[in-house]
Amino acid sequence: MSDSVSPDRDPSTLRSARWFAPDDQRSFGHRSRLKQMGFNTEDFKAKPVIGILNTWSDMNNCHTHFRDRAEEVKRGVWQAGGFPVEIPVMSMSESFMKPTSMYYRNLLALEVEETLRCYPLDGAVLMGGCDKTVPALIMGATSANIPSIFLPAGPMLKGCWRGEILGSGTDMWRFWAERQAGNLCEDGWNELEDGIARSPGHCMTMGTASTMTAIAEVIGLCLPGSTSIPAVHSTHARMASSCGRRIVDLAWDKITPRMLLTEDAFHNAIVTDMALGGSTNAIIHLIAMAGRAGIKLTLEQFDRISQEVKVIANIRPCGDYVMEDFYDAGGLLALLTQIKAHLKLDCLSVSGRSLGENLEGATVYNDDVIRPLDRPVSKAGGTFVLRGNLAPDGAVIKPTAAEPHLLAHRGVVAVFADYGDLKNRIHDEAAGLTADHIIVLQHAGPIGAPGIPEWGMLPIPNYLLKQGVRDMLRISDARMSGTSYGACVLHVSPESAIGGPLALVRDGDFIEVNVAERRLHLEVSDEELAIRRAAWKPRPVPHRRGFGQLYAKEVTQAPEGCDFRFLHHGEDSPEPDIY
Ligand code: FES
Repeated sequence: MSDSVSPDRDPSTLRSARWFAPDDQRSFGHRSRLKQMGFNTEDFKAKPVIGILNTWSDMNNCHTHFRDRAEEVKRGVWQAGGFPVEIPVMSMSESFMKPTSMYYRNLLALEVEETLRCYPLDGAVLMGGCDKTVPALIMGATSANIPSIFLPAGPMLKGCWRGEILGSGTDMWRFWAERQAGNLCEDGWNELEDGIARSPGHCMTMGTASTMTAIAEVIGLCLPGSTSIPAVHSTHARMASSCGRRIVDLAWDKITPRMLLTEDAFHNAIVTDMALGGSTNAIIHLIAMAGRAGIKLTLEQFDRISQEVKVIANIRPCGDYVMEDFYDAGGLLALLTQIKAHLKLDCLSVSGRSLGENLEGATVYNDDVIRPLDRPVSKAGGTFVLRGNLAPDGAVIKPTAAEPHLLAHRGVVAVFADYGDLKNRIHDEAAGLTADHIIVLQHAGPIGAPGIPEWGMLPIPNYLLKQGVRDMLRISDARMSGTSYGACVLHVSPESAIGGPLALVRDGDFIEVNVAERRLHLEVSDEELAIRRAAWKPRPVPHRRGFGQLYAKEVTQAPEGCDFRFLHHGEDSPEPDIY
């Protein structure tokens, strides 16, 4: 090593040096192929190679600005003395992927892990935002454990219709109920379609995307304040360049994801999730992300923290505003100042500073959008965990999104065997459902659906909507979009497709839900349940070839994060041999 080279900036310590530095035939091949792409030796020699993992595609509505952002990242990487290379990875669109993007979360995570491992990369910029892209990119990068920074897509601008502010998802569900009830004409409905999604960026309510990007920031993987910036602001473009500059330092300093993703960091993630009134999906994703770092999170941790930290982000679906207002009110850093007492402030972030240091100077500019803790949006916690003979391994409910009278409810059950059955029969008036009925959906879990889709906000029968009913108690092994609302008991585990008690529920049974007591009880005797269990037969797995076969064999249940068993934290794969 030359005397003039800082020990921290010794090019021979770069991972990519194994590909490019040796004076041998194989490295000659690598260098000559870079030259084939038009790069000179001085473009890449002795520089950290930064992979920009871009989830852009024409099928991802939330990432339409990512081609520009990738160029802005490259500008930052060049400025800081790195060598940027853009690498497309699976573009997961929440809107278009079926049966659900969740089915493919682990596939993207696997692709990211192997992409980071097989290429000569010293650092990575993870470009994501649309729902499952966030946990997938983080899970893959955590397993590969190569220095990484997360570049959040940012929320889209607020929607508007006839002077009324619209929020992604939330207002679609709301107006669809009005349309079904006969209160909204076709013209109005079509105008809504034009006005609800008006710019690049992810959903701008507190759905999974806003929740998970905020979590990515609080666990230390994003530049401070970056996740609240609306996608189309010029600040967002400047932030992208900053990510490019910063990742070069992280690559030299060998700051890897697992150095940041500690137990304390995940504690901070749960605290933040609760203060935001975040999506119930965050539970599954956080368990999976923590699992990649060798940390076990339990449902009870979420429940306990939700009792200590109330929802203070006044954002739809729990509140009134949308993410653009949140940014103008001070954004995530301002919110974190309100819950400072609950946070582990020593946790490190990609900024090179602690979380506490990142909060210096953060200010709340509108305390109706970001409330103080003594004036929360709701007195109820963000997420409650229910247990009982119907969900021995747990289920979750977001009480802030439900009508309060349904949080302690006993009712007769109407069972739907799968989503097709629900679609065919739910609006049939002959069924005679009332507002007090409990709607149960089976075969909507990780294996049964498959992919544990966001079907959990089960539709209310049109004839009840016309009577003015807007919420009912609904129970399933599905998930629910973070933009949805209602008294929906979700993630019932074990799921019905593998013989969980949900599979044994029959029309006419009674179920009792008591959220305050965390109780989810099927009023059927153990003897009768044993008879039903003996008669129960599993359905064939829906997807039986290729990825579907791998998925059905390896996916875990919701309380374990729905990750693949073989991707859980364990022995690291060796660095690739270079022959
Ligand atoms: Fe992409 Fe909602 S559709 S975040």
